[in-house]
This record gives sequence, C-alpha cells and structure tokens, in this order.
Amino acid sequence: MFKIGIIGIGNMGEAILKGILSNTDIFSDEIIVSDKNKERIDYIVNKYSVAGTDNNERLVKLSDIVFLATKPKDIEKVLSPIGNLLDNKILISVLAGIKINKIKKFAQKAKIVRIMPNTPALVGESATGVAFDKNITDEEKEKTLNLLNSFGKSVVVEEELMDAITGLSGSGPAYVLTFIDSLAQGGVKQGLSYQQALQLATQTVFGTAKMLMETKQHPAVLRDKVTSPAGTTIYGLHELEKGKLKDTVINAVESATKRSKELSKE
Ligand SMILES: NC(=O)c1ccc[n+]([C@@H]2O[C@H](COP(=O)([O-])OP(=O)(O)OC[C@H]3O[C@@H](n4cnc5c(N)ncnc54)[C@H](OP(=O)(O)O)[C@@H]3O)[C@@H](O)[C@H]2O)c1
Repeated sequence: MFKIGIIGIGNMGEAILKGILSNTDIFSDEIIVSDKNKERIDYIVNKYSVAGTDNNERLVKLSDIVFLATKPKDIEKVLSPIGNLLDNKILISVLAGIKINKIKKFAQKAKIVRIMPNTPALVGESATGVAFDKNITDEEKEKTLNLLNSFGKSVVVEEELMDAITGLSGSGPAYVLTFIDSLAQGGVKQGLSYQQALQLATQTVFGTAKMLMETKQHPAVLRDKVTSPAGTTIYGLHELEKGKLKDTVINAVESATKRSKELSKE
C-alpha cells in the first residue's frame, strides 16, 4: 500500500511530488504516480525512484490519498473508471474551475479537497487556496494541509471563494512578473543594463515579501518606515498614485475573479 498516489504527473503533479519528497517524512517508496504518457512515467520513476503505472485503477487501489493533477477537460475520462474505488479516500483535486459537486458526480463517496495552487509551486513556493468537502474530519484536514504546505503555503476558504483565489494568487504571478519587468525597465531608462535592473527588481520584490512575512507588520507600516519627508520614495509613490496603481490592481483581481466564475460555468 502506498501513502500517496498522483494521477497526471505533468508540471503540477511533479511540483507536488517534489514538495512531498523534500519537505515531509514520506519516502519515495511510499508514493505511486500514473500518467497517460509512458515516457513521462519512465522519466519521473527514474528521477525520483517512486513507483509508476499507466493504470489509474491500480494506483487508486494501492493509495491512501490520491492527487488528481490532469487537465480539467479530462475529468470525465479520468474519474469515470475509478469513481467507486475512491470511496472514503481523500481525493485532492488540482483541476482549475472544477467544483466539488461536479467531482462528487463521479466519486460520490470520496472525501474531496479542491485546491488552487499557483506556478511558484514549481519552486516549492505555491500560494494555494484550499476548500474542503463537508465530510472531512479535522484529522484528515491536518494531514492534507501538511502535504499541501510541502510545496508552499496554503489558505483554507469556503468553496465559493475559490474564484477570488484564482483572481488573486492563481493569476497573481503574472501581475507580479509584469511589475518586476516594469521596475527593471524603469532602471533601464535611468541607465542600468536590463540584466542589472532585472536582478535588482527581482531581489527587491523577493526581499520585501520576505520582510513582510518575517515582521508580520501591515504593508503600510513598513512603507511608511521607508518614506522620509521630502525624500525620493514619496516622489516615486506620488507617481504610482497618479497612475492609479492600487485601483488598477484591485480591478485586475476583480476582473480575473469574474472571468474565473464565467469559465467554471462553461
Ligand atoms: N500549471 C499551473 O500553474 C496550475 C495552477 C493551478 C492549477 N493547475 C491545474 O493543474 C492541473 C495540471 O496542470 P499541468 O500544467 O500540470 O498539466 P500537464 O503538464 O498537461 O499535466 C497533466 C498530465 O496528465 C496526463 N493525463 C492526461 N489524461 C490522463 C489520464 N486519463 N490519466 C493519467 N494521466 C493523464 C497528461 O498526459 P498527456 O500530456 O499525454 O495528455 C499530462 O502528463 C490542471 O488541472 C490545472 O488546472 C495548474
């Protein structure tokens, strides 16, 4: 019997596998992965020394907890043959936009957890939204969160907020990358090479995020500390205000959340 099974070992499946192996006490011989693509299974089995199969039924029968990390469009094809085998097992779905009730149609007695990670999961730093099915015990929740926190940090929400999670942290890396690129281009305008400017912009965002996490202070408090009277920063901040940066970012999250709602209805 394996502790963990991962169905669909593409980008997200591999990120989850890497996190679990690096940051939990679960060993490679306690994990089994499956995929449609045999070359992909061979690659993962060779790289991580886990068990591999192209048979999802076999994986489910042999696993305690199952991650589902195929594409959302494949849901029916993947779950129809294994729905009954998932009775009373924890099924953690990564499928963007697929509601717990839809998964229930295929796996009525499974204990479903719906998660929305983001791309930094690939480097072990996902911001993951999590929604639990009603039939999950506190002990099972804790076990699940330990797994999810192995590839980043997670926030538990009611399922209706998963679209907001998509609009904020799901799409968030694209917003932050745009900001970093803009900051770097600002440096280029002032004479730095793009390479120098990008290094400085990236480290500035990384360092500021780390400072925020470690001090646990409100962003406005930390910002005020670096904004001296008539200094350079207040001049820069004034331009951001004029350009409505805050307004624009709030609108971006709102618009992406709305689009996520539309997509999950389609
Ligand atoms: N990447 C992200 O940043 C991100 C963020 C949040 C959520 N997600 C969610 O994560 C899921 C996976 O995304 P991804 O980017 O990792 O996709 P991906 O790289 O395409 O991985 C999916 C894997 O599942 C395999 N597969 C397809 N049908 C299967 C089946 N019936 N049984 C077993 N394996 C099967 C695919 O094989 P083939 O290639 O041969 O079809 C592929 O290797 C998606 O549902 C997505 O919504 C991704």
